[in-house]
Amino acid sequence: MKQPALPAIEKVLFTEEQIRARIAEVAAEISERFPSGNLKLIGVLKGSVFFLTALARALTVPVKTDFLAISSFSNHSGAPGVVRIAKDLDDTIEGEDVLLVEDIVDTGFTARYLLQTLAGRGPNSIGLCTLLDRRARRIVPLRIDYRCFEIPDRFVIGFGLDYKQLYRNLDFIAVLKP
Ligand code: IMP
Ligand code: MG
Repeated sequence: MKQPALPAIEKVLFTEEQIRARIAEVAAEISERFPSGNLKLIGVLKGSVFFLTALARALTVPVKTDFLAISSFSNHSGAPGVVRIAKDLDDTIEGEDVLLVEDIVDTGFTARYLLQTLAGRGPNSIGLCTLLDRRARRIVPLRIDYRCFEIPDRFVIGFGLDYKQLYRNLDFIAVLKP
């Protein structure tokens, strides 16, 4: 494991081993729930790519993947709320069992907007799967179907999560120094 010699890191919240183990548990749940081969994981660029690929590889059922990108004025310090799709999915999701895969659900604005938008495209089912849940900052009530970890109200980096586009490639999750 790459250990954090990085000056930006205050403390490690979850090690690579802990993350892999938890993803394996969640993947087992998802594999059991969707044996039909009708499953599609939808990732939100860029943060959820790292989690989505780890999750997909841990699944034991056939799975499709697609990605979208958003632009959002929702961030940890600023006022949240305005979300729009900057790059849409490549394919239709009609009749498919869709899981929206997020790196973190914070205020919930992003996930709610995406779930509502995708629900309007005729999927067979739609659910939400997130690596991290910072429930203390939730503004929009949301049902999270699969959650790996709940985290305290601190800004985190690693496993896809960035600070100014850096640190996504860390294979652990850490609290950024204030
Ligand atoms: P929400 O709409 O407030 O739920 O926004 C969630 C989005 O904000 C995530 O997909 C991340 O891109 C970003 N975000 C929120 N908290 C953090 C954090 O602690 N580190 C890195 N990105 C974050
Ligand atoms: Mg994100």
